[in-house]
Amino acid sequence: MLGTKRLVVAAAEKPPYKSEWRRRELSSHAHVPGANDEVETPEVISRRQWMANATIAISGVIGLTLAIPIVGSLVPDVGAGGATWTPLDENGWKQLQSATDKAVRIDINLKSKDAYLPEQSSPQSVWGIKVKDPQKFSRDRSDLFTPAGKDMLPYPIVTLGFVLFSPICPHLGCYYNYNAAANKFQCPCHGSQFDQNGSHIAGPAARGLDPLPLREQSGIAQCEWIRYAPTIPNRLVVSYTA
Ligand code: FES
Repeated sequence: MLGTKRLVVAAAEKPPYKSEWRRRELSSHAHVPGANDEVETPEVISRRQWMANATIAISGVIGLTLAIPIVGSLVPDVGAGGATWTPLDENGWKQLQSATDKAVRIDINLKSKDAYLPEQSSPQSVWGIKVKDPQKFSRDRSDLFTPAGKDMLPYPIVTLGFVLFSPICPHLGCYYNYNAAANKFQCPCHGSQFDQNGSHIAGPAARGLDPLPLREQSGIAQCEWIRYAPTIPNRLVVSYTA
């Protein structure tokens, strides 16, 4: 009987098979959840998911908030709201109305709004001429009219019998002067010259003077300020600010 008991004890103390050793070894390295560990319950998973969704939503709102003004600032402010009608100085307008064949400089207080900056105003001036013979004018300024006499710009070039010119030289953007004795416009920078109708007659400019929109509203003459691209024969709008 004693011999049998020894055999039973020996069997109980016999080392486990290799696979059993391996299982014990793995389980000894297995992570045992501690007090600070979150247990992956469905509640924890849904909380995590909620946090992820909230992060995405907040990022989206921030991205949208930044994207709208950035994209908006890249879009040229044209058409409605692009150019702003600016009143002409009353005295200058009266001078132009009573002018004969001389150009008249008319002051304006140009209001402009650029992107998100508050509206600004700057003293500017435009040149005005009286057009006695619109047909002759359209022939002389063939860069502004079709052969049939239609305006090539998206606004009337001759309004109320007058034409306003931007004071900016179409060569490289200097402000030109008017020589009353010679009845022509001259640019001090590189010598471009334009006749009384604004036609290019000398110097490096690639086109004649640029006409600006003009209208009369409630008895007040107003113009729009447009800056066209310099150096090229065509008129491409680059801004509505000075
Ligand atoms: S900027 Fe007027 S001629 Fe050059």
